Amino acid sequence: MTDTAARPGLTTADLPAYLPLNRERLIAPGPVEVDPRVLLELAQPQMHHRAAAGIEKLMEARAKLTQLLGDPYDAVITTSSGTGAFEGALVSLVPEGAKVVNAQAGKFSERWGEMAGRLGYDAHIVAKPWGEVLDPQEVADAARDAHTLLITHSETSTGALHDLAAISAAARAQNPDLIIIADCITSYGVAELRPAAWGVDVIVSGSQKGTATPPGLGFVLFSPEIQTRLIRNTPRGFYLDMHRELTGQKAGSTPQTPAINLIYALSLSLERLLCVPLDVLWAEKRRQADALIAAGTALGAPAWAPRTSPAVAVLTPPAGITGRQVSARLAEMGQRALPGQAPHEDTVFRVSTMGYADRYDALAIAGILEEAFASLGVSVKRGAAVQAAWAALQVN
Ligand SMILES: Cc1ncc(COP(=O)(O)O)c(C=O)c1O
Repeated sequence: MTDTAARPGLTTADLPAYLPLNRERLIAPGPVEVDPRVLLELAQPQMHHRAAAGIEKLMEARAKLTQLLGDPYDAVITTSSGTGAFEGALVSLVPEGAKVVNAQAGKFSERWGEMAGRLGYDAHIVAKPWGEVLDPQEVADAARDAHTLLITHSETSTGALHDLAAISAAARAQNPDLIIIADCITSYGVAELRPAAWGVDVIVSGSQKGTATPPGLGFVLFSPEIQTRLIRNTPRGFYLDMHRELTGQKAGSTPQTPAINLIYALSLSLERLLCVPLDVLWAEKRRQADALIAAGTALGAPAWAPRTSPAVAVLTPPAGITGRQVSARLAEMGQRALPGQAPHEDTVFRVSTMGYADRYDALAIAGILEEAFASLGVSVKRGAAVQAAWAALQVN
């Protein structure tokens, strides 16, 4: 909280950047805003995960995660962030020494290559520069004789939405036994995702993104077929042994103590997302991101990536200001966005409506960006960004 007494001499000329009067907002691509009713789920008397109600809640949340995917994959909820969930999928499906190809074009996808190398796999990288999209045929060629392909659908560091359908189809055409594990940490529940039709075996995500829940839970969703390839008693993980977890969770129990309070919150949050068909949810999230991108473009800050993710608008500021300056200015206004990730802190800034946010939040962000840019000395035509955002939100 900002100390209001810290600005005793404030005049109306200092508005609207007077933080104590602003509503503080999380407009970063995770953690995201959470519905206060979801937060209140955390404030119950401590529940027990072995009680009938706790077991029921675990099963309920897992069923809703499957529903949010749209295909009959089985969900494991991990008490970890998304990275832990991804590690669990990797060590539980890939045997020692196997060839793992990682397709990367940004900070998050780079992490999976590093992880595979550190875990002692025969790790190979197929890369594009940050801001670009992966070439499906190039990835397929690299994965021709691989055991497993790791791919990041929505690259949150660059705002690129890689063509998971095309990459998966090309890779599988050349290597039918290939296991495909997808980091859908910011695309699950946000972007169109059809893993069964696209041939993606495993989907990984985390609670602090599209499912609009506090951080602390990871999700791994396994296709029915891939479950037969889960390694029993993997020597590369104990806590993250997904064979053991999946077997337990299918029967309503976790081998270890789960973050049961978060599972209650998750289940409630998923209800809001599931009250419309998935294609309606995806289309609305797409429009919200388009509104942010249109607002940025109107201010001279177009999207970095040519194929944009609906989870995050990664925008390149006009000459004279940097991503770090925009992000810092927004923070002074009480709006938590993010600059780019190293080494691109100055190249871009990142804003998002991924979580408990709607189209009107997108309009607010457009207005906030106008204000921030004007105060940084950019010549801004007032209303232009908001108008551009409105146009992008119109349903055809
Ligand atoms: C695409 C992507 N992958 C991986 C991660 C890491 O997830 P976590 O911080 O939940 O471990 C993030 C987090 O922002 C992400 O956006």
